Amino acid sequence: MIKKLKPYLSKYKLFTILAPLAIIIEVLLEIRIPFLMSQIVDVGIASQDITYVLKTGGLMIVMAVLAMLFGVISAVCGAKAGMGFGSEIRKGIFNKIQEFSFANIDKFSTASLVTRLTSDVNNTQNAFMMIIRIAVRAPVMLVSATIMAYSINKSLVSVFLVAIPILAISLSFIAMKTYPRFHAMLKKYDAMNATVQENLISVRVVKSFVRSKFEKDKFKETNDGLMNASLRAEKILIWNMPIMQMTMYSCIIAILWFGGIKVIGGTMHTGELISFISYVSQILMSLMMISMIFVNLVLSRASVSRIVEILDEKVDVTDSASKGLKVPDGSIVFNNVSFKYNNESENNVLDNINFEIKPGERVGIIGGTGSSKTTLVQLIPRLYDTTEGEVLVGGNNVKDYKLDTLRDEVSMVLQKNVLFSGTIKDNLKWGNLSATDEEVMEACKNAQAHDFIMSFEKGYDTELGQGGVNVSGGQKQRLCIARALLKKPKIIILDDSTSAVDTATDTRIREALNENLKDTTVIIIAQRITSICDADKVIIIDDGRINAIGTPDELLETNEIYQEIYNSQQKGVA
Ligand SMILES: Nc1ncnc2c1ncn2[C@@H]1O[C@H](COP(=O)(O)OP(=O)(O)O)[C@@H](O)[C@H]1O
Ligand SMILES: [Mg+2]
Repeated sequence: MIKKLKPYLSKYKLFTILAPLAIIIEVLLEIRIPFLMSQIVDVGIASQDITYVLKTGGLMIVMAVLAMLFGVISAVCGAKAGMGFGSEIRKGIFNKIQEFSFANIDKFSTASLVTRLTSDVNNTQNAFMMIIRIAVRAPVMLVSATIMAYSINKSLVSVFLVAIPILAISLSFIAMKTYPRFHAMLKKYDAMNATVQENLISVRVVKSFVRSKFEKDKFKETNDGLMNASLRAEKILIWNMPIMQMTMYSCIIAILWFGGIKVIGGTMHTGELISFISYVSQILMSLMMISMIFVNLVLSRASVSRIVEILDEKVDVTDSASKGLKVPDGSIVFNNVSFKYNNESENNVLDNINFEIKPGERVGIIGGTGSSKTTLVQLIPRLYDTTEGEVLVGGNNVKDYKLDTLRDEVSMVLQKNVLFSGTIKDNLKWGNLSATDEEVMEACKNAQAHDFIMSFEKGYDTELGQGGVNVSGGQKQRLCIARALLKKPKIIILDDSTSAVDTATDTRIREALNENLKDTTVIIIAQRITSICDADKVIIIDDGRINAIGTPDELLETNEIYQEIYNSQQKGVA
């Protein structure tokens, strides 16, 4: 698992090596200080030799200053390595998410991806900084202080032989118990992020439905859930400190007791006991650090596994084809296509779909909501892969094209579309960076957006708020259509893209497409029968199956569903 993250470290190798190296030097310098101290007491003071005291004292100062210097070097290197490592992992996750298909994103949920990109990377980064510094310092300190203590007095060291197993057992117990609880806590984090995200994205809907109270309660629930999960994990974790400290102070008491007896009995010097106690505190301090590292590693292991899960995720719509295959024309063929979103579910969302569309045809698709119209057209630019059967574009299986090539030629205006913050022109060029101003204007004229854009004071340079909040629904739809047209695709799919546009404008958009984009295949999913009544063919979808295909006139003669929709909408007109 950890190996997976190694590549993200390569840029910071030097700092990753320097940080622990510097801290080892720091420990080796520091560890001499109590020994020098005992020399001052036992040799210098005992023989009243002031020059010895001053000389040894001076040496202590030099060592302390050097130790501090190396400590600082280690801290700086550690921070550089840690922060760099974190930033590289974030970059890695972000890039991986960009490759994700819709299905991959559905699987993780947006909120969980955000938590993993932020909190989990933070946990990992902190754990890493700890590993390269404190996790090196503590064992080195432990070993060298034990050696020093042993060299002062062999028999007193046996106190530890009792203490260490007690600590080891209780720590492993704590770690084992907390790991699953931390995992559960991170899941609650996901849930809370999901609530907040959904609320913020839909804040206008929440306000207009006066649902703030409901939303507050919902937030309280997830927030409390997070708190309880954290408490459950902490409840075990808090035992760590008291167990540590109790052992530590018991050891000191035992050493003072046995050491005191030895000093009184004359088998040990006072200075030796003083330095022995210093070493004991250093030993216990490093044990405490080790236990802290332990706990943090447990927490970060949960985070690392969540990060690796993303990095390991198999992107299910991949660019296997690398042949420079071009899309020759805008024809589309569905051969026995079936599809389900989830491989485990029983029923197909699309069932055995067969049809053929010739280049340049105008095709209408109608059907009730939830009848799988959107699902059907999403297979054409390969936003999802078919479960069975094949989709051909320009005579080739969509899987044989490079994704970029395919999606440049199949432009889809999604039902739920978004604009980004920036000027109108920036947003439009998003579809085609190299488009000239003339091309932008032409696309906007075809999408019937030019006139309203020019009515804005700054025209094409008007700033859009985040998500395009300062244009109306119908205006936004027309901008999205223009953005799709700007790619000059061979196939354009409008998924209910004119639902908020008035009928007259809707008609003008279709007329413009018919006149100016004769060779482009146009697929229009619509609720209004008028939007498809001049199509070359209409596909009627009912519950994931094709109910009928024909010209609007044929269908009006023969098809019940078509007649029903036609009649209900004609009544409105009459
Ligand atoms: N991302 C998804 N994951 C799982 N099920 C989905 C997803 N999107 C749509 N569905 C389901 O697929 C069916 C068809 O949806 P959709 O194609 O959006 O219908 P339409 O566009 O005709 O209204 C619906 O039952 C819907 O619940
Ligand atoms: Mg739809």
